Amino acid sequence: MRLLLPVLLFVVVLLAAYAPAPVSPVASPEATVRWENLQVLPDTLSRDALMGIMRGFTGALGVRCDHCHARGSEGPPDFPSDANPMKDVARDMMRMTWQINTETLPAIEGLQEADGMQVTCYTCHRGGTHPATSAPAEGEAAPVERDRNEHPHGDHGSDG
Ligand code: HEC
Ligand code: HEC
Repeated sequence: MRLLLPVLLFVVVLLAAYAPAPVSPVASPEATVRWENLQVLPDTLSRDALMGIMRGFTGALGVRCDHCHARGSEGPPDFPSDANPMKDVARDMMRMTWQINTETLPAIEGLQEADGMQVTCYTCHRGGTHPATSAPAEGEAAPVERDRNEHPHGDHGSDG
């Protein structure tokens, strides 16, 4: 139970970052789904909430569901299975992100907005599986999805 509140906060932030419409992270009793193998997220998550998070992952990393979920020969992935090692990587990434938000950031003195969550999967991943470690060279496109904001700097050839 000690972990439940921070995890729910984490869920709310993920949803705020990715879900098209606000949904409650906790299902009403009638809508409760029996998840088979949640180890980080709370079992009380509604289907909408869990799917919102999963779609957040695919968007943040620029992957499809089967990047983390094991595939059988045909049909949809076996979602509860842990056969794909990326699933455990993602679990550790969730724990890390949660720790950054609940411990690391709040411990930085002088940071004005350390209260509440600041970091999501997208913060690092920016639409790719391998976060960039340095700024792109001048005139080079970013290795991951370009910033959607219009930056008036530089020229991108004739694509404008
Ligand atoms: C970046 C990795 C990643 C991607 C991409 C991803 N998932 Fe997941 N998914 C996970 C992890 C990790 C869990 C287990 C979470 C836990 O242990 O609390 C999970 C759990 C689930 C579960 C719950 C299974 C159960 O009953 O235990 C479902 C359903 C699911 N994902 C569906 C999807 C769908 C649909 C997509 C694509 C839209 C998707 N996932 C994309 C990592 C991912
Ligand atoms: C603080 C930065 C940071 C955050 C936040 C972060 N990641 Fe990562 N992630 C990384 C780094 C760095 C790697 C290693 C990339 C590499 O191997 O080049 C990585 C790798 C991964 C991989 C393995 C990708 C592959 O194909 O090898 C998965 C899956 C992943 N992260 C999922 C997530 C998910 C899901 C979240 C949000 C819950 C998340 N990450 C949040 C930095 C981050």
